[in-house]
This record gives sequence, structure tokens and C-alpha cells, in this order.
Amino acid sequence: MSRDLLDHAVPTTGGGSCLDDLPARALDARELRELVDRLADEPGLWRQHVAFSDDERHYASLYRDEFVDVWLLCWTPQNDTGWHDHDVSSGAVRVVQGVLEENNPRIGGDHLRTEVGEGVSFAFGPDHIHRLVGAADASVSIHAYSPPLWRLGQYSISPEGVMRRVSVSYADELRPMEQEAPTA
Ligand SMILES: [Fe+2]
Repeated sequence: MSRDLLDHAVPTTGGGSCLDDLPARALDARELRELVDRLADEPGLWRQHVAFSDDERHYASLYRDEFVDVWLLCWTPQNDTGWHDHDVSSGAVRVVQGVLEENNPRIGGDHLRTEVGEGVSFAFGPDHIHRLVGAADASVSIHAYSPPLWRLGQYSISPEGVMRRVSVSYADELRPMEQEAPTA
């Protein structure tokens, strides 16, 4: 696994960072989107963590307290989260370099596909199920979750279209689940 987990919040850039004045409560999806948009304009907090690997998605923990966690993720076109939800957390994503593709599962139809380019952000609640894939050679995104990620749901969809969920730890790298042979 290629990750750079920090025990503590990264020291901020000497005052004025949006991480310095977070409210002492959970943030909603709109507030999380504002946070990732503001962090995009503070490259001193994340630029040094950018690195890429085709084999394992590179990520770094930028901040974590009891109300919110913030991550930097780096993507190649080989990096694919597989289908997942964020359990009880709301979240927001801002692409700061390259392009991501977000997919949302559609029962009985083609999955919804959205390209998210540099400078674009989106946010979601705990009801959101998606799959993110790198759609450019070297893409970088900032993610924030509240409450902080602890468990996630990871899904497989069988060839017959049956969806199954497995609960995984936030520290496990998400990747597409292997299809298991049907059992009786
Ligand atoms: Fe996600």
C-alpha cells in the first residue's frame, strides 16, 4: 500500500489556513465542499505529498480531528476505487490536477458516468454510492469527510447484477472487489 499517514495534522503555513478555523462540530456536505475548494488554493499544505503509482493508489492524510478528516489522493488511469459508500460520513472532492471519472450505480441500466476536471468539486451525503477512477495520466484530488471516515461499504456487482456490500476499514485501500464464484 502506498500511503503517507500522518499522526497529527500537518502544521499549517503560519496562520491563515482554512484548517485553522474549522468549527468544533461535524460539517455538512456544503461546508465540506467549501473546505476542499479552499484547500485547493493552499498547495503548500499538500503539494509535497503528490506521488503516483499504477499498482496502488497513492494517498496522504492531511488532517484528522474528531469532526473531519482530509486526504490527498493521486491517481493514474489504473487506479480504481471500486463501488463504495462512506458509511455515516458526508464527503466532498475537489480535483486539483487532471481528471477523475465518477460513476454511480444504476440498477437495470447503464451506470451514471461523470467526468470531473481540474478546478471542479462535488459533495455528497452518507447515502451516496460511487466509484472513482483516474481519467488522466496524473490526477490529484483533495477529499474531506465528516464525521471522519472509519468504516466504508465496498460493493461488488455480480454478472447477474446482484449487488453485495462488505464493511471495510478506512485504512484499507479501496479497489474493485474480485467476483466470487456463486455459492448455494
Ligand atoms: Fe468515495
